[in-house]
Amino acid sequence: MLTGYRWLYLGAVVSTGLAAAAKTGTFLLLRFFIDDALVRERVLDVVLWIALGFVGLAVVQGVFSFLSGEMSARTAEGITRRLRNYLFDHIQRLTFTYHDNTNTGELIQRATSDVDALRRFFAEQAIGFGRIVLLFAINFGALLSLNTQLALLSIVVVPIIVLMSFFFFKKISDAYEAFQEQEAKLSTTLQENLTGVRVVKAFAQQAFEREKFEGDNHEQFVRGRRLLVMHSLYWPISDIICGAQMLLGFILGARFAIDGAITVGTYVAYTGLVVWVIWPMRNLGRLIVQMSTGMVSFSRVADLIREDREPLDDGSFVPEDGIEGQIAFDNVCFSYDDGTSVLKDISFECEPGQVIALLGSTGSGKTSLVNLLPRFYEYNEGSITLDGVELKDYPRSILRRNIGIVEQEPFLFSRSIRENITYGVSGEVSDEEVEEAAQAAAVHDVITTFPNGYNTRVGEKGVTLSGGQKQRVAIARTLLKNPRILIFDDATSSVDTETESEIRGAMERLMENRTTFIIAHRIQSVMHADQILVLDDGEVVQMGTHEDLMAEPGAYRQIYDVQARIEEDLEKEMAYV
Ligand SMILES: Nc1ncnc2c1ncn2[C@@H]1O[C@H](COP(=O)(O)OP(=O)(O)OP(=O)(O)O)[C@@H](O)[C@H]1O
Ligand SMILES: [Mg+2]
Repeated sequence: MLTGYRWLYLGAVVSTGLAAAAKTGTFLLLRFFIDDALVRERVLDVVLWIALGFVGLAVVQGVFSFLSGEMSARTAEGITRRLRNYLFDHIQRLTFTYHDNTNTGELIQRATSDVDALRRFFAEQAIGFGRIVLLFAINFGALLSLNTQLALLSIVVVPIIVLMSFFFFKKISDAYEAFQEQEAKLSTTLQENLTGVRVVKAFAQQAFEREKFEGDNHEQFVRGRRLLVMHSLYWPISDIICGAQMLLGFILGARFAIDGAITVGTYVAYTGLVVWVIWPMRNLGRLIVQMSTGMVSFSRVADLIREDREPLDDGSFVPEDGIEGQIAFDNVCFSYDDGTSVLKDISFECEPGQVIALLGSTGSGKTSLVNLLPRFYEYNEGSITLDGVELKDYPRSILRRNIGIVEQEPFLFSRSIRENITYGVSGEVSDEEVEEAAQAAAVHDVITTFPNGYNTRVGEKGVTLSGGQKQRVAIARTLLKNPRILIFDDATSSVDTETESEIRGAMERLMENRTTFIIAHRIQSVMHADQILVLDDGEVVQMGTHEDLMAEPGAYRQIYDVQARIEEDLEKEMAYV
């Protein structure tokens, strides 16, 4: 983690040591002043030099303290900046399954609050630890040089303090971990509430949501209080122990001085030094305890870093002259992490350029099926081949470059419409190309009515656009990418029949020579497909062209009849109007 910052950090530690040594020097100079200078005849001769010495040592101490603070801050900021960048990139490379199972709030918490705890660890705690160890070593060395017996008597409580610190370290680590977990939960609640604010308002669930939040918040309060109690227990105890030790030191020192074992100057220097030996010990305890929070955050961040990324470039097969688009499923079975099988024994084949339609009730596995193609998820059994090569042999990056998906719930970034349409296209894109794609998606005319045209900013999650407009911007985005394989997952569910047929017309031109998967609920949208797969509960129950399926009894004809009847009724009613 320290790569590239080792020398800087070492510099910080060394500066700390020099500052500490300068402090110790002050006390030794004081002793010299009292014992040797004051008793001389011509005090004034040396006083000036001694005064200069004090000033000089103070300057040295100040300069090195500053340098140490500056260098450790630079290290800490540098490390955390790099870590934050790394985490951002890492999180977006984790698997779909990981994201399915992890709350956004939890990830935000780790990438912000935990990283910040690590920053404090490097900026304050680790360097503080080094400082205290150095202060102790240097000052204790100085004490030993004054009087060995007294020096040893002055640190009898140190082991007690260290032991106590470690005891609290453990306790506070646990309490802090619980606190961070709860904070992550709270951020998740907050984030979900903000994302779903429309639903909350529409269902008038503000009171319910407030109670839920208050519950989580109360728990946070309880855990925070426990953490604070731990801290506030630690302080008085360590203060009393340290205070008692110093008092003991002063009394013993005074006795030694009265008995003549040490000089007055030594006593004065001793009282100064003993403070600088014991006081840091008290801080050592605090640091050890604070470092526990850094350690917890470190392990939380490390857990995240250890998560496997999606190996985008794993796979040996790189097609020489692009992808054709011939696809074959052979007894494919698939289940998400929880083990219930979502797709059972799916087998079908399609030639390059064919249109495959998937029809089926909600939850029958249509989205799951198409999500296997770009390897968002891995199939468990059977085989899927693309141009005769097993899908698992293709690097994911190649598949994703060649497969364009219009998601069931398209997501638009809060950027301009143009930026949304050109998203993911490498290189410069001309305005004509953008407009062409928008025209094909039947959204160009709508966009031109906006005052800012293509530069209109899409609100967060696309809220300033209607559902249908959003879908059509997403279609334009996928079309511009110009993929070999197109997947429309219910892409026209939010547009009216007329617009849909307009889009279909444009798409049919674009679908030429491209293997296309269409998921839809309207028979009209699927009837022209080369093959229609009817799914039910993860199984293909019917397969064939519109004519084939109309000729046999089954789910397809039922759906057709129902939809035809609805339309007939509609037409009749329209006729009355
Ligand atoms: N990420 C996921 N993790 C676990 N289970 C999932 C996940 N996504 C979907 N499922 C489950 O898989 C089954 C099939 O879901 P899928 O989204 O493929 O249905 P669908 O046919 O696309 O439905 P719809 O027409 O409503 O879009 C459902 O029972 C659903 O609960
Ligand atoms: Mg779906």
